[in-house]
Amino acid sequence: MKTVLITGCSSGFGLETARYFLDRDWNVIATMRTPREDILPGSRRLRVLGLDVTDPESIRQAVEAAGPIDVLVNNAGIGVLGALEGTSMDTAREIFETNTFGTMAMIQAVLPQFRQRRAGVIVNVTSSVTLRSLPLLSVYTASKAAVNAFTESLALELQQFNVRVSLVLPGRAPDTRFGENAQKRMQSAIPEAYADLASNIFAEWGQSSEVTLSLDVAEAVWRAATDPSSPIRIAAGADAVALT
Ligand SMILES: NC(=O)c1ccc[n+]([C@@H]2O[C@H](COP(=O)([O-])OP(=O)(O)OC[C@H]3O[C@@H](n4cnc5c(N)ncnc54)[C@H](OP(=O)(O)O)[C@@H]3O)[C@@H](O)[C@H]2O)c1
Repeated sequence: MKTVLITGCSSGFGLETARYFLDRDWNVIATMRTPREDILPGSRRLRVLGLDVTDPESIRQAVEAAGPIDVLVNNAGIGVLGALEGTSMDTAREIFETNTFGTMAMIQAVLPQFRQRRAGVIVNVTSSVTLRSLPLLSVYTASKAAVNAFTESLALELQQFNVRVSLVLPGRAPDTRFGENAQKRMQSAIPEAYADLASNIFAEWGQSSEVTLSLDVAEAVWRAATDPSSPIRIAAGADAVALT
């Protein structure tokens, strides 16, 4: 029986992906900053572990407690919507710490076992904003575009060890906690000079009927994890697929 370790399972895509793999008889190590057993169906194949991807000691402990895994899904991520002028460098660094460096650190932690076993799959969740740029998302887009480039280079480096690395690019998913979780980083993020641009963008989003569902992302992660012939980039959600 195969084992997947997923980061950021307290809500949204991570939670749905954990459910999806559990339903398909995998062992699931659902990690989250504040571990909660009650949000996933009870199963002997489920383990919930605490993990903060920005904390090296937390990563070390979680990977050690997890034991051998077959698939790592780097899903944990945070957002910020705002003009660059309204975004502090502390916030920019916080975004990269989680989205970009957190992903790299998790991969470093599992690579020795994958390389030694000559097997393993890594799935990095980025975003369709890297397929079509949008205003007011420059820092977030940069953090995810860096993961795309990193992943495509790493894939070539790890081919020799039979380790696959894939990208899942979801579209806009208003149903997860992503927007709400980003709010605390968005105080004064839209200075007056950018107010018109922001209201036009919000109006455009309000009208778009195509969005991404958490299930779309779980399906794409499953495909990346289980189908060696899948492309390195998999768009998830109708709006993301429309951009490819
Ligand atoms: N929703 C969208 O529109 C959208 C679109 C494209 C891509 N994405 C990407 O998809 C991924 C999942 O987002 P989502 O929409 O499901 O949002 P979400 O509901 O906010 O889930 C994000 C998860 O990441 C966790 N997380 C944040 N910082 C962490 C850290 N330092 N260590 C470990 N876990 C951490 C959160 O945990 P806590 O509960 O502890 O905060 C939460 O479980 C993210 O990488 C996001 O960038 C989202």
